[in-house]
Amino acid sequence: MQPPIPESAQAFSRLMQSHRSIRQYEDRPVDAALIDQVLVESLAGSSSSGNLNMVSVIKTADPERKAHLCELHFGQPMVLQAPLVLTFCADSFRTRQWLAQREARLNFGNLLSWHVAAFDAIILSQTAALALESHGLGVCYMGTTLHSMGAIAAYLECPDHCLPVTSMVVGWPAETPAQRDRLPGGAWIHEERYQRPSAEDIDRHFESREVKGWDRYRSMGPEMIERMDALGISSLAQYYTSDIKYAPHVFERDSAALREVMEKAGFLP
Ligand SMILES: Cc1cc2nc3c(=O)[nH]c(=O)nc-3n(C[C@H](O)[C@H](O)[C@H](O)COP(=O)(O)O)c2cc1C
Repeated sequence: MQPPIPESAQAFSRLMQSHRSIRQYEDRPVDAALIDQVLVESLAGSSSSGNLNMVSVIKTADPERKAHLCELHFGQPMVLQAPLVLTFCADSFRTRQWLAQREARLNFGNLLSWHVAAFDAIILSQTAALALESHGLGVCYMGTTLHSMGAIAAYLECPDHCLPVTSMVVGWPAETPAQRDRLPGGAWIHEERYQRPSAEDIDRHFESREVKGWDRYRSMGPEMIERMDALGISSLAQYYTSDIKYAPHVFERDSAALREVMEKAGFLP
C-alpha cells in the first residue's frame, strides 16, 4: 500500500495543476516588499551551483521603462499591462569582483561559467514563478529575452559577465485561461536508457497536441487562418517552424547575435 500523500505534497500538486501563463492583468500594483520576500525565499528554495548564487534579478515597474522593455520584447502587450517585469540574469560579475577583492584566482569568464550562471538563473526563475503563483499572482515568461539579449542587457545597464536569460511579467490575473496540455510522460520519461520513439510512438505522443494546438492557433481568428493558409501550413508541426512562429532563419540569425553578445560580455573569451 502507498503511504498517504502529505498535505504539503497535495497543496504543491494543486498549485502545479493550477498553473496557467497569464497574459492579461488587472490595473493594480503588486507590493514591492512581497516581491522581494518571494524572491529571497525563492533563492533559498533553489539549489545553486557551488552555492555561488551567480544570479541577478532586475525589477522593472516604472511605466516608461516598461514601455521601452515592451519594444525589446517584440511589443508583447502584457509588458505594458502587467505592473512588473522581472529580468533574470546569469551573473558572474559580482562573484568575479569578490574574487578580485580577496586576491583569489579569477574564474567564471568562460562558456562553462555561462552555463553555471544561466542554469542558476533559470532554476531561480521557475521557483519564483511557482512561489508567485502560490500568492495568487500571475506570471508569463518571455522568450524574447533571448532574441533581444544584447539590447535588454544594455538597457538594464548589465555589466560584463552579466546577461539576461529570461524575463517574466508579474501581476494580478485578469483572465482564467484553460489549462494547456503537455506531452504525456511516456514521450519523455525513460527507464534506464534512452528509448528512441518509433514513427508510431511519435504519432501517439503528439496526437493530442496536434489536435488541441492546431485548434488553438486556428481559433485565433480569420487573420491567423489567412496567414497560415497563405503559407500552406497544414499541421501543427508545420506551424511551429513557419515564419509565423519559430522560423529557422530567424533562429540562425539570432543565434549568431547571441554568440556575439556572449563574447562581448566575456563569457566566450
Ligand atoms: C522560456 C519561456 C519563454 C516563453 N516566452 C513566451 C513569450 O515570449 N510570450 C508568451 O506569450 N508566452 C511565452 N511563454 C509561455 C508559453 O507559451 C507557455 O508556458 C506554454 O504555451 C504553456 O502554457 P501554460 O504556461 O499556460 O501552461 C514562454 C514560456 C517559457 C518557459
